[in-house]
Amino acid sequence: MASQITKAVIPAAGLGTRFLPATKAMPKEMLPVVDKPAIQYVVEEAVAAGIHDVLMITGRNKGALENHFDRVGELEATLERKGDMVRLQKVNYSSELADVHYVRQGDPLGLGHAVLRARMHVGNEPFAVLLGDDLIDERDAILPRMLEVEQQRGATIVALLEVEPELASLYGIATVEPTDDEDVVCVTGMVEKPAPGEQLSNYAIIGRYVLQPEIFDILDRLEPGKGGEIQLTDALEKLAEDRSIAGGVYGVVFRGRRYDTGDRLSYIKAIVQLAADRDDLGNELRPWLKEFAATLE
Ligand code: UTP
Repeated sequence: MASQITKAVIPAAGLGTRFLPATKAMPKEMLPVVDKPAIQYVVEEAVAAGIHDVLMITGRNKGALENHFDRVGELEATLERKGDMVRLQKVNYSSELADVHYVRQGDPLGLGHAVLRARMHVGNEPFAVLLGDDLIDERDAILPRMLEVEQQRGATIVALLEVEPELASLYGIATVEPTDDEDVVCVTGMVEKPAPGEQLSNYAIIGRYVLQPEIFDILDRLEPGKGGEIQLTDALEKLAEDRSIAGGVYGVVFRGRRYDTGDRLSYIKAIVQLAADRDDLGNELRPWLKEFAATLE
């Protein structure tokens, strides 16, 4: 069934402190993952799901993001003169990918605050949110399924990943009840980054959401939560608790490959995994990796 959701919001205004000093003058979403900035994978994912209108929430250093999705006449002319059509096509691809808009967050007061900045652009429609530092392998796309579940249930949809209990404190964690669909659960409660023992389940909320516009009023009234930030999880919790507001919250369980590029170790793992799978790099990288791994023993 064709999805009616036409807009995607990509928050990319965080300070990226875990990556300093690399993120001093550049958003972490611009860090290269093999040969593309992380955010390009995310825009490609939205486009592959049929969403071409993309709003980026940016902060300081927004220039790099804007330039990446814009044309670069000088570079295009040079590649054309050299007859390097393969690279020319790669350069043009990112500028033609989607209809990209930008809005500034001002102060990075939290993910919920960043999403609230999308209100004017989104209006009164459901919309998708994709975090710019959370990569879902294109072979395991989850967004199309989330859009489908949103259409069936007219509710807010989050993506859930089962994590080991010791990792729960890194995520928003949901309590869930089963539904008739094997991969869909009903979310009954949520807590952001629970302390050990406070954990409600093993279902962690990952960086893909399909939100109902009622979230904006809730975010607007929300007090700062964990870390003094306006937390998206706190607003989602209110939607989960009161199903009369906007149909409640459902989770689609994700069992595929996902790469967190906001953390240094996961970022390194992401690059190695993706490069090892690539046709143009994998054949040389895989034997080298094996040799290198042998030296570690
Ligand atoms: P993170 O908490 O992972 O981003 O937010 P961060 O704050 O930049 O990371 P560290 O901990 O300092 O390294 C998840 C997503 O939400 C965006 C981030 O850009 C990231 O894509 N975000 C976060 C905003 O857009 N605004 C904010 O105020 C906070």
